[in-house]
Amino acid sequence: MKWPSSLSAFVTLATNDNYARGAMVLGTSLRNHKTSKKLVALIGPQVSESVLKGIFHEVRLVDVLDSGDTAHLAMMKRPDLGVTFTKLHCWTLTQYSKCVFMDADTMVLSNIDELFGREELSAAPDPGWPDCFNSGLFVFRPSMETHDKLLQYCTEHGSFDGGDQGVLNGFFGDWATADISKHLPFIYNLSSIAIYTYLPAFKQYGGNAKVVHFLGKTKPWCYTYDPKAKQITENVQEAATHSTFLLDWWNLYSSAVVPMLQEQFGEQPFHSGCVEGESHPTQASALESQLSSEERKQNWEQGQADYMGKDSFDNIRKKLDTFLK
Ligand code: UDP
Ligand code: GLC
Ligand code: MN
Repeated sequence: MKWPSSLSAFVTLATNDNYARGAMVLGTSLRNHKTSKKLVALIGPQVSESVLKGIFHEVRLVDVLDSGDTAHLAMMKRPDLGVTFTKLHCWTLTQYSKCVFMDADTMVLSNIDELFGREELSAAPDPGWPDCFNSGLFVFRPSMETHDKLLQYCTEHGSFDGGDQGVLNGFFGDWATADISKHLPFIYNLSSIAIYTYLPAFKQYGGNAKVVHFLGKTKPWCYTYDPKAKQITENVQEAATHSTFLLDWWNLYSSAVVPMLQEQFGEQPFHSGCVEGESHPTQASALESQLSSEERKQNWEQGQADYMGKDSFDNIRKKLDTFLK
């Protein structure tokens, strides 16, 4: 298809079904708020293209890139984020002149097409370290040259957090100081738990939020929801830390996305709960689980811990808790 070169698009990424659900909610929220831009989803081979095609104009299969940087990822307590290097593929979308990347765990609360008036690389501050930008939403210009330079940067410098945010903050290293017009207001990437970190500011400004980001380990799809009562039914206290945004996400998911999934798969899929347990273990993790504890200890000592499985942060913490008790 030949498209005009001035085309612009919102881009997201999903390498597995959980993030695909998030991507569908994001895409639906952009459409509900009448964006005039194209919607693009980058997907890994595990994700069904057809189901995303109902919402996105373009669904592109990409190679999953993994930083493999277990040490830095362990510091973030997010061993799963090595694959966020896959985000760097977004610079290859050169049929578009300008794009806004959005994490699959974001959702828009109003039309944000005005972001296309900004230049590369515009982004909002990271709530954990405001001199870094958060890479859950950023404005960029697709370019093979930039893409290649980014990959080169990864090879030479790696990522200080093991994920894309470390690379991008290194590469666009003058973001904090060079040009204030590239600092997006926080309301374009509001962390859903900002209510918990700075309540008075949340009360003052939270109502102006345009994009909510469910940043952190527990994603909306990890909760259980009763569509009839329109309520979260488990971990209610933790759910409350996300304010009403979590319910907004679930309302959208159950009213717009679930019917689409039902049509495709003819069942009652994904109505509630984190589906981690349902997905097929990768060959690697299946093998890991067969290792004896002595073999695991040896792997651990050689720096080859099973961060995604038995040696995950949660398991280590549980072990420590039992010792402490
Ligand atoms: N992502 C993905 N598969 C994964 C992990 C991440 O597709 O297994 C993509 C997805 O778009 C996600 C983004 O990378 O939103 C960044 O990861 P996440 O949102 O979990 O990081 P956080 O914002 O919590 O730091
Ligand atoms: C961050 C960002 C996310 C990014 C991750 C890894 O917390 O929210 O978009 O993928 O770090 O660098
Ligand atoms: Mn995110």
